Amino acid sequence: MNFLDDNEVTHGLIRFLDASPTALFAAKNLSVELDRNGYTRLYEGETWRLREGQGYYVCRNESALIAFRVPRRDFRGFQILAGHLDSPLFRIKTNAEIEVDAKYVKLNTEGYGGMLMAPWLDRPLSVAGRVVVRTENGVESRLVNIDRDLLIIPNVAIHMNREANSGMKFNAQTDLLPLLGTLPVAEEKTEPQAECSIGSAFLCLVADAAGVKPEDILDSDLFVYNRMKATVLGLHQEFICSGRLDDLQCAFATFQGFLASAPGESAAVYCAFDNEEVGSSTKQGANSDFLRNVLTRVCSAFGCSDEERMRKMSNSFMISADNAHSIHPNHPELADPTNRPVINGGIVIKYSANQKYTTDAVSGAIMRAVCEKAGVPCQTFHNRSDMAGGSTLGNISTTQLAVNTVDIGLPQLAMHSPYETAGVKDTGYLIRAAKTFCSGSVLSRGDGSFTLHF
Ligand code: CO
Repeated sequence: MNFLDDNEVTHGLIRFLDASPTALFAAKNLSVELDRNGYTRLYEGETWRLREGQGYYVCRNESALIAFRVPRRDFRGFQILAGHLDSPLFRIKTNAEIEVDAKYVKLNTEGYGGMLMAPWLDRPLSVAGRVVVRTENGVESRLVNIDRDLLIIPNVAIHMNREANSGMKFNAQTDLLPLLGTLPVAEEKTEPQAECSIGSAFLCLVADAAGVKPEDILDSDLFVYNRMKATVLGLHQEFICSGRLDDLQCAFATFQGFLASAPGESAAVYCAFDNEEVGSSTKQGANSDFLRNVLTRVCSAFGCSDEERMRKMSNSFMISADNAHSIHPNHPELADPTNRPVINGGIVIKYSANQKYTTDAVSGAIMRAVCEKAGVPCQTFHNRSDMAGGSTLGNISTTQLAVNTVDIGLPQLAMHSPYETAGVKDTGYLIRAAKTFCSGSVLSRGDGSFTLHF
């Protein structure tokens, strides 16, 4: 990929966004790309024999992934990039079908993550995730995507809710269940099939898409996703719009920078976690032992003692990349008075006095040096002092692995809507910064001074 060509970068990002309706698919797409680039897949349950210069990756739960490259046996530390692959959506519950007036069938769902609910209504939706099926020796999970317009959550007509434009309150159990279809009326009913009768039509559809028999599906993780494809718009085609820009834009950009980086003194590490939107406290989230275990095993594989590993950790640095808020064109008053990120204005360094973001003067300064070296602009974000704002995975990850960390993101609008807006130039900026970062090293003296090799 040519990082200086925004068009090529944007089309690569669009392909990734459209092919990644859930974290499971995003992780799968990244692993395919790693295979194509000559990386070797490792398994947590097997012995790792690692060679210098070779790239490797490990998946956990099929929805999180860590890739790394160790340039040489006596590497100095780890240059770590981290982002997340999940985004707010609806999970389909067990026994999902609900009949209405013996005519309609809708699906029972529950929300995942802190979503903007209104934009999920009145648009084509579908279902993707995984099913776990019986095999001869046990069970096996299979990805499934019903790759067609399938569902819709219809609004109530204005005639039946005159207050609809004066602030809607959504009840996730009553207002947001997607319509699947209609039941056949009595005379239309054909010979009933053994398994695919009323109450299991949805299961049959999923089984068919997964290429298995309905009775072989033991369980599933299925999600509703927005079918609207990513697009580029604006007077100068400066905006990219899509579902899941938070955080697939950062996950994509840091991944491309990681792949393109040159071997330096330190090992380059790329992390894509799951479950950031629900607090990261899962085995595949940033608040797990996943990254710590991988780095410990890398050190062991290269014969490091405990002391050497700890020295390497003190010479390590993490960029936690999760999208940030641009000032809103209709609500500029919601942004902080003196820190006002704009779309296509460059990488956003995020600060929070209460350490919801990990950035401090040291990690912020190091990030600015990375951007300067890469020749890309950066900007700063603070919440208004009277707003709580969001959180991310940087501070959570440091409780598991205490390395110097900066929280950054790319500026966007409508965060946590199923259709968000960001900038086409910003993706390329982060690719270049990530490439510079992964090719270099951040060496700590432990006395507040650092040697930066970029
Ligand atoms: Co995010």
